[in-house]
Amino acid sequence: MDIRYDPNVMVGLGVPDDAGVYQLSEELALVQTVDFFSPNVDDPYSFGAIAAANALSDIYAMGGRPIVALNVICFPEKKLPLSIMEEILRGGADKAAEAGISIIGGHSLKDEEPKYGLCVTGLVHPQKIITNAKARGGDALVLTKPIGLGIINAAIKTGIASDETTQQAIELMSQLNRKASEVMIEIGVNACTDVTGFSLLGHLYEMTSASGVGAYISLSKVPVIPQAWQLLKEMNILPGTHANLAFLEGKIDWDSNISSGEQVMLCDAQTSGGLLIAVTRDRSDQLLEALHSAGIPVATEIGEIISDENRRIRVRKK
Ligand code: CO
Ligand code: CO
Ligand code: CO
Repeated sequence: MDIRYDPNVMVGLGVPDDAGVYQLSEELALVQTVDFFSPNVDDPYSFGAIAAANALSDIYAMGGRPIVALNVICFPEKKLPLSIMEEILRGGADKAAEAGISIIGGHSLKDEEPKYGLCVTGLVHPQKIITNAKARGGDALVLTKPIGLGIINAAIKTGIASDETTQQAIELMSQLNRKASEVMIEIGVNACTDVTGFSLLGHLYEMTSASGVGAYISLSKVPVIPQAWQLLKEMNILPGTHANLAFLEGKIDWDSNISSGEQVMLCDAQTSGGLLIAVTRDRSDQLLEALHSAGIPVATEIGEIISDENRRIRVRKK
């Protein structure tokens, strides 16, 4: 048997989903993901926590429950003191503990630039996987964290972000999507993905393509970190974001009153962003109320899935 066609692979490389899923039994499937990247903030402990929250997020986006993780770390041990690596690992370990799991091993490698993340294993019931392929016309689209993190990360690198803005971004990026995931599992939703480097619109595009539907987004309803609008005016180099814009060119119907800056914002590459959830209309209020009571007041309905065989995404102002 060609191992690539192992019938127990429920979600694999062929689809752009958040994590792979492998069925173990009638009632149990493994959810697996790995994610690591270079520091986006100066403080090593915060970087470790952000990288771990970001890696765990793919398990949460699939409706899974993380059970265990491994460290993946690259470090220039001749260039930087080992205490920095220890701080990165401590940040990751504390975040894993907050998620209720242990890190049971890992791998380290000498490299010019530090990089850190986790390989995470989770569990899910095979019938309860939340992919991004089952959004349906009429579903409300709900987002659980504000966007603008890519712009703020770039501003942090350039040194123009205020301490307050930096701290706010660190808090947002370190925030686990655990509660949001637990709430959506309890209410029952059609599709979910987490918003990361491919941006809000990029990840929505993955969802609409995989589900065979269209969507609209109301820009005025999308939560944006307020300082990100100001910083956007001062930043002109946003590599990830511009790659997203280029990829999405021709795939988005922008209403004529959407400015180019607003287009950039919706294509902004996030780090450890929130969950983007498609939920049937009759459960959307219940989902939002439950998210708000779970301590996620920013959770907002930002648009709707539309039955459209051409799978177009429209961005309108209101
Ligand atoms: Co993801
Ligand atoms: Co990922
Ligand atoms: Co998913």
